[in-house]
Amino acid sequence: MEKLIVKGGTRLEGTIPISGCKNAVLPIAVAAAILGDGVSVLHNVPNLTDVNTLRAVLEGLGATTKLKNSTLYIEPINHLEYEAPYELVRKMRASIYVLGPLVAKLGKAKVSFPGGCAIGPRPIDLHIRGLEHLGAEVTVQRGYIYAQAERLTGTEMYLMGQYGPSVGATANIMMAATLAEGTTVIRGAAREPHVSDLAHFLNAMGADIEGIGTSVLTIHGVKHLHGTEHTVISDDIEAGTFMVAGAITRGDVYVQGIIEQQLPAVSEKLVEAGVALDWDANGVRVTTPREIRGIDVTTAPFPGFPTDMQAQIMGMLCLAAGTSVISENVHTDRFIHAAELNRMGADIMLDGSKAVINGVRSLSGAPVMASDLRAGAVLVAAGMAAVGETVVSRVYHIDRGYESIEQKLNDIGANITRVSD
Ligand code: EPZ
Repeated sequence: MEKLIVKGGTRLEGTIPISGCKNAVLPIAVAAAILGDGVSVLHNVPNLTDVNTLRAVLEGLGATTKLKNSTLYIEPINHLEYEAPYELVRKMRASIYVLGPLVAKLGKAKVSFPGGCAIGPRPIDLHIRGLEHLGAEVTVQRGYIYAQAERLTGTEMYLMGQYGPSVGATANIMMAATLAEGTTVIRGAAREPHVSDLAHFLNAMGADIEGIGTSVLTIHGVKHLHGTEHTVISDDIEAGTFMVAGAITRGDVYVQGIIEQQLPAVSEKLVEAGVALDWDANGVRVTTPREIRGIDVTTAPFPGFPTDMQAQIMGMLCLAAGTSVISENVHTDRFIHAAELNRMGADIMLDGSKAVINGVRSLSGAPVMASDLRAGAVLVAAGMAAVGETVVSRVYHIDRGYESIEQKLNDIGANITRVSD
């Protein structure tokens, strides 16, 4: 396994480019490979392990894919393979996205039940319920989900769980409904930018989706979807991660290729904490003219503060003057990074879904372990600000969602070396 050796005391200065959005390209690639009747070309695709894992799942279903210089060519499946096997699905929960499209296109699907991960059990009851609303017959046997339907039938449904809207279930059901008979209305739909990007892609394929960006999506079923060309939106979470990295190292960083509308709550909270953000049409300049203040953060579905930025803002608040409280309301077990930050000298106390962070004057480098991709990212950011050297292990978590993270950060002043165990 690989590790990142992060030298502390570095100050980031310069321009850092943002890659395409992981959580947009994953469902879009599924739609292109299963729902389309012709080749699709996706631009601004990040070269991530999750993207390559999904390519393997789609090729297992009979699609052909090629990723070259951030462009992903996808030739749809051309035979009736409808099984997504455990050995691939267990690597990446997003493989569940093939369930709805396979039933819509082939009338049947057999998909391994995705495992949980470090941030919680990750149920898929809303995915299953949504498909049943569309008329599919769904059973779970021996770790696999079996779904089938002659033809899906549009209907009205409410697709919100106890933690609010579901990004994955909204994507899955929206994709399936594009080829259903009649109209589907999804109430309580997720509104994340990557859900809207998927909807725009589906419409470019010939789907008929209204209400994009709102919590009520109306999908008028069509008979066929054709291939199309699409540029994937930039990754708001990667951008937010680098904004925090600039702030935590008290640097002067221009995060290029992002617009404020993609991460309004992150922007708001960074400013509240004392970070100066100077937005323009192509990105944002991040400086810290004064000390970081303690603030309170509550994660929520878009447009609330994204749970995928919770670890990163926690890392920054470890060095704030004062106390902060973070409430994690989306995932049930997403504070594992707190223990790792405490190993670096942070003062974080956990109480259920709340984390209380008492700011400290400095962090000290230490050997730490990534537990999920965002936790890994915050440990790198904290390591850059710490005194001394930090060694981050299980870097494969980070590579799932960040393209060449050490390359991008070293280009603006970091000192990070990747080594193999
Ligand atoms: C997506 O996961 C993202 N992954 C996650 O990002 C992100 O944390 C999450 O959305 C929330 O924004 C991808 O897009 C590939 P959900 P997803 O369904 O779709 C509960 C990252 O860091 N729920 O919106 O799995 C669920 O347990 C990853 O890039 C049900 O109860 O998340 C959670 O508490 C980590 N039943 C909440 O809803 C269901 O059927 C939100 O989950 C589905 C979800």
